[in-house]
Amino acid sequence: MKSNLLKFQSICSKEWPHINMNEPHILPIYNSSAFVFENIEQGIDIFKGNQEGYVYSRYGNPTLATVSEKLAALESIDLDSKAYALLTGSGMGAITTALLSNLQSGDIIVTQADLYGGTTELLKSMLSKFGIKTILCDLNNEALLTDTLASNKVKLIYCESPSNPVIACVDLKLIADQAKKHNVLTIIDNTFASPYLQRPLNFGFDVVIYSTTKYLNGMGNALGGAIITKNKSQFNDLWNTLKLTGAFCSPNDAWLLYNGLKTFPLRMDVHCNNALSLATFLEKHDKVKTVNYPGLSSHKSHAIAKSQMSQYGGMLSFEIDGAINEAMYFMNNIKIATLAPTLGNVDTLILHPATSSHLKVEKSVREKVGITDGLIRVSVGTESIEDIIEDFGNVLDSL
Ligand SMILES: Cc1ncc(COP(=O)(O)O)c(C=O)c1O
Repeated sequence: MKSNLLKFQSICSKEWPHINMNEPHILPIYNSSAFVFENIEQGIDIFKGNQEGYVYSRYGNPTLATVSEKLAALESIDLDSKAYALLTGSGMGAITTALLSNLQSGDIIVTQADLYGGTTELLKSMLSKFGIKTILCDLNNEALLTDTLASNKVKLIYCESPSNPVIACVDLKLIADQAKKHNVLTIIDNTFASPYLQRPLNFGFDVVIYSTTKYLNGMGNALGGAIITKNKSQFNDLWNTLKLTGAFCSPNDAWLLYNGLKTFPLRMDVHCNNALSLATFLEKHDKVKTVNYPGLSSHKSHAIAKSQMSQYGGMLSFEIDGAINEAMYFMNNIKIATLAPTLGNVDTLILHPATSSHLKVEKSVREKVGITDGLIRVSVGTESIEDIIEDFGNVLDSL
């Protein structure tokens, strides 16, 4: 049909022929919910899987596919076989999809006490409703882990390393080896370390999860998550679950992640160097009781971190000598850092776990894992380290 035969309203309504002359340099955002079939035969072939092609963006989309391939390539860099990645609308979307895809009523998960709060809530309040039981275990205690796996019908081990907010690490090789012996699946949330510093598939983990909202995006301008595995049949199951949960990433957010990835290792190097310098400074300050940073030889996870991470990351926490009033004074007087409940952005961010992420956790319970009223978590940014140290020092000196 010639366009000059169409009426005014039809010209407005119709999708216009796309004028593509040569490839754009930068990945386009495919904001299209569905894809066009050349004819009904092609539609049937794509639906049946006899021909590759896009159908509907919840099933797949060229922007998402390109960004997923890039993440999979990062995770596969020193593997003997290729990994596969899926993008989700948030880190929680990735966690929920990976767990729902692998669990059924009656299954048992073994995990650690110091998980991200949203994950603990998911296990405790939601999955428990479907008959999925969680056992908390010190995953670094080999005897206890072996005994827990041997004496329960465990389906999967779920862990985080380093963890939030005391930046403790679990031994990835130990967990993966034990899981293999007992035929148990392993899933790790690798958000704090990021694939630049730690790639758990190398240690034998089955599935790796990210909140890409954090270091991978780095700019704090889009939510997102990723699920990565090198097992094709695991990937197919994950894809099918994601298709049904509808937790897909928006192409706009995937595109922002793609932009962030271009500077990801450069940012990470600065995050790591700045965090080590700030941790070293804080450790010597007389108004600081404890510093949690695995790069410090005094940290309980230093040896584990050294064996499995290439650097020690950009996250630290420290305990002010004092209690809630001193911590609140610090939060209100620091200028270089922003009080915002996220992490992994280029700018320094601080959070007071006792009054935010762990507000609902009983004081006696959180204190057992080191989350005291004086604990402050820092996502160390990429500002000049002199400015960061000067400001932290000034506020601590004035306490
Ligand atoms: C370690 C960790 N995993 C997962 C999440 C959830 O990610 P999102 O907020 O993208 O859903 C967070 C959020 O802070 C986190 O810190």
